[in-house]
Amino acid sequence: MAGTDNQRIDGGRLARRIERLAEIGRREDGSCYRLALTDADQEGRDLVLGWMRALGLDIRIDRIGNIIGIRRGAEDLPPVMTGSHIDTVATGGRFDGCYGVLAGLEAVETLDEAGIVTRRPLAVAIFTNEEGVRFQPDMLGSLVHAGELPLEEALAIVGQDGATLGAELERIGYAGSEPPGAMTPHAYVELHIEQGPVLDRAGEALGAVAELQGISWQEVTLRGVSNHAGTTPMSLRHDAGYGAAALASFMRALAIEMGGTQVGTVGAIRLIPNLINVIARQAIVTVDLRNTDETLLREVEARLAAFLRRLAEDEGLTIETRRLARFAPVVFDPHVVGRIEAAAAALGQPIRRMVSGAGHDAQMLATVMPAGMLFVPSIGGISHHWTENTADADIVRGAQVFVEACRRLLARAV
Ligand code: GLV
Ligand code: MN
Ligand code: MN
Repeated sequence: MAGTDNQRIDGGRLARRIERLAEIGRREDGSCYRLALTDADQEGRDLVLGWMRALGLDIRIDRIGNIIGIRRGAEDLPPVMTGSHIDTVATGGRFDGCYGVLAGLEAVETLDEAGIVTRRPLAVAIFTNEEGVRFQPDMLGSLVHAGELPLEEALAIVGQDGATLGAELERIGYAGSEPPGAMTPHAYVELHIEQGPVLDRAGEALGAVAELQGISWQEVTLRGVSNHAGTTPMSLRHDAGYGAAALASFMRALAIEMGGTQVGTVGAIRLIPNLINVIARQAIVTVDLRNTDETLLREVEARLAAFLRRLAEDEGLTIETRRLARFAPVVFDPHVVGRIEAAAAALGQPIRRMVSGAGHDAQMLATVMPAGMLFVPSIGGISHHWTENTADADIVRGAQVFVEACRRLLARAV
C-alpha cells in the first residue's frame, strides 16, 4: 500500500527496530521484561534515544522521565505529538507501546526521506511507566504531563519492590530537567495494537478509537488468624485465603451480571504465610475494574465495597482497601478521530470505529489536548503475554495510515 506524496514507509526498517528493542530484557520464554525504571528500561530508553538522536530530533527529557524528540516544522506552532511507552509488563510482548513509539520514528524518517517540511513540528514521546506494574498508578508519565498528578507526589511513589520512583529515575539517568507538560501540543495521535479480540474476530485491519474505558484499580488487604489446617474446625476460622477466593469469585459473578463493557479481574493474590497446612493470616488481592460508563463503574465499585463489608463481618476478617489507580472513561476528540478515518479512506483502507479496553497514554493526554488512537489487530486478541502478535502486513498497514494521519494533522509547508 503506497502512501500519498511518495510517503511510503519502510516496513522492514520498522520491523527491525521493533525486533531490536524486543531483544532488551528478553527472557527464555520469549517475553519482554522491561518494568519501568529498571536496568532493562534504561537500556531500552538508551537504544531509542540513540535512534532519535540519529534522526536529528531535538530531545527534551522532563522531570518525570518522559522523553520527547521533536522534528522541526516550518512554523513555530504547537506540535502534533505522537508516541506511547516502551516499558512492559513482566510477561510482555514485542508490540505493546513499542509499536507506537517506533512508528513515530518511522513517521519522522518517512517525512525526511520524502523531503517534506511540515507546517507544525512533530513530537515523538516515550512516556514513563505506562504499564503500572512496578509503580502505580499506570499511565504515570502521561498523567503527570497532563497535570493530573503533581510531580512531587509522583516522584515519591514507592513501588511494589520498595523502590522510590524518583530515586530510580535518578539511578537510571532519566531524571530530566524540563517541567512536565511544558509543551502544549496541537493534537496527540497514538498508534497501538488493539490487545483485544475485536478486529481479529471481525477479520478487519484497522480501528479508529473513539472511546476508552474507565479504569479502577484497588489493592485489598484481608487480615484473619493463622492456625493449624488440621485441627481448626471450619466454624472457628478467620481465613484470609478463603476471603481472597470469595472476593475473586464475587468479582467475576458481578462483572458477568453487570454485562455491557464491564470487566473485573483479580490478577494477583499474595497469601501469608502461603503454606499448605497453615490457614492464611493475610491476603493481598488486586482488583482491576473497567467500564466505558462512569456511572456503572461507580456502581460496581460500591457493590464491591458492600461485599467486602459483609465478608469482613461474616468471616471475622479485617479488610482494608487502597486505591492504586482511578481514571474516568474518555471520549476522544472527534476531529482527530475523523482525521484518522480520513487518512485510512485516502489510502483505500476500511476502518472501524471502536472502544479501547486497554488503558493508554492517549487517555491521560485527552484531558489537555485533542487526542485519538489508531488500532491494528492482535492475533487471537492476546496481549500482556509474550505470544502477543500482529501480522506483518497489519503492522505495515497501520503505520502507513498512521503516517498519513500525522501528515494531515501536521499540514504541509513545502
Ligand atoms: C495498560 O496496559 C492496561 O490497560 O492495564
Ligand atoms: Mn500499551
Ligand atoms: Mn500494556
